[in-house]
Amino acid sequence: MANKINVLKGTKDILPQDIEMWHFVEENALKTFTSFGVKEIRTPIIESTDLFQRGVGETTDIVNKEMYTFEKSERSITLRPENTAGVVRSYIENGMHRLPAPVKLWYKGPMFRYERPQAGRQRQFHQVGVEMFGVSQPAADAEIILMAENFLKSIGLEDLDVEINSLGCPKCRAEFKEKLKNVIRPHLNELCEDCKGRFEKNPLRLLDCKVPQCQEIFSKTEIQNVITSDFLCDECREHYNQLKKYLDDLNVKYSENKLLVRGLDYYTRTVFEIKSNNLGSQNAVCGGGRYDNLVEELGGEPTPAIGFAMGMERLISLLKEKETSKLDGYIVSNNTTEALKLAQQLRLQGLNIEIDLANKKFTKQLEKASKVAKLALILGEDEIAQNKVSIKNLETGEQVTVDRNICAEKIK
Ligand code: HAM
Repeated sequence: MANKINVLKGTKDILPQDIEMWHFVEENALKTFTSFGVKEIRTPIIESTDLFQRGVGETTDIVNKEMYTFEKSERSITLRPENTAGVVRSYIENGMHRLPAPVKLWYKGPMFRYERPQAGRQRQFHQVGVEMFGVSQPAADAEIILMAENFLKSIGLEDLDVEINSLGCPKCRAEFKEKLKNVIRPHLNELCEDCKGRFEKNPLRLLDCKVPQCQEIFSKTEIQNVITSDFLCDECREHYNQLKKYLDDLNVKYSENKLLVRGLDYYTRTVFEIKSNNLGSQNAVCGGGRYDNLVEELGGEPTPAIGFAMGMERLISLLKEKETSKLDGYIVSNNTTEALKLAQQLRLQGLNIEIDLANKKFTKQLEKASKVAKLALILGEDEIAQNKVSIKNLETGEQVTVDRNICAEKIK
């Protein structure tokens, strides 16, 4: 036998027994987002590497270590590690700033990050996400968080924790970063190697380091005083307070987390995550925030924007196993021609039907029917002679015989 070829590490097949759960999540995404006036957008999975270098940021783990990048005809191409940058590119390229604001877009599809695979973390995973362009007011932030909540509720996920924070604008954040560096600098040598690198390039990211020795240092009083200080300028504070007021008025439960800094560089002001207690260490099902400078940084008109994305694998692992749905009917007959004809008639009338294609015994066919279908549609010699079908309810055992031309209605 030839060598087997296996699926790549960190990637997974989505198998027929699980696909209904995916359809369920995707259908509810379409319904919920449509109810907010959001339209779907589908952008390519490959983009110019520059897009992510400039969009996601050179100092992030995603761009530094995790991108699948390759050369083709002397161009550097990358499999998208996330889709905010791609949607922004498309917004600019297609002149969507000329549309009435806000422009609201949603997407679903695969993303690729070369991370160490573990429970809840894959190298190819799927996101469903929303981006909203053209509104700087905090009502947009509230609506985006509400949209995420409504969608999670629509698939039956209610008890999740919403965490929010504000990262301020480049101006107030720059002052905060300096203060943070000043109190951490005396301990620089004791930090982990990653944090040593982050110290100059991206000091905010120090805050979500999970290494115990770093956490111990950051718990020192003088460092905590800076971390928990209110560094926002008046405009950023007003924006954040107004968002909290909207969330209170809407009865959205949330907690504030000063350590929530997110792993992408484009955020300004509001950031948020939605977490579950039932997911282990990779517990974020949703991450998002405002990115008011990204459109301009990628060559567009200055345009405020905010959005979120959710990991579909994580959502699905939280859903209880849904029973796979059964066919409407399974035709049981020793006359293959008649079975093929009836199946064709019923499928064209919108029913899901299967037949035995392999000339199995009648009893075997009935056994199969009870496994895969709600009804057995029996075409014995008598039924065929009289142009009738016997419909057997496989749950109750009840059976009726009807004319073939009204069979579909009877089944429905
Ligand atoms: P992110 O936090 O990198 O944000 O990813 C969003 C969600 O995708 C995470 O909360 C998680 O559920 C899922 N996810 C991320 N990486 C993996 C992985 N390796 N395996 C499985 N699931 C994963 C973004 O991607 C931003 N683009 C979100 C956004 C949209 N911000 C504004 N607009």
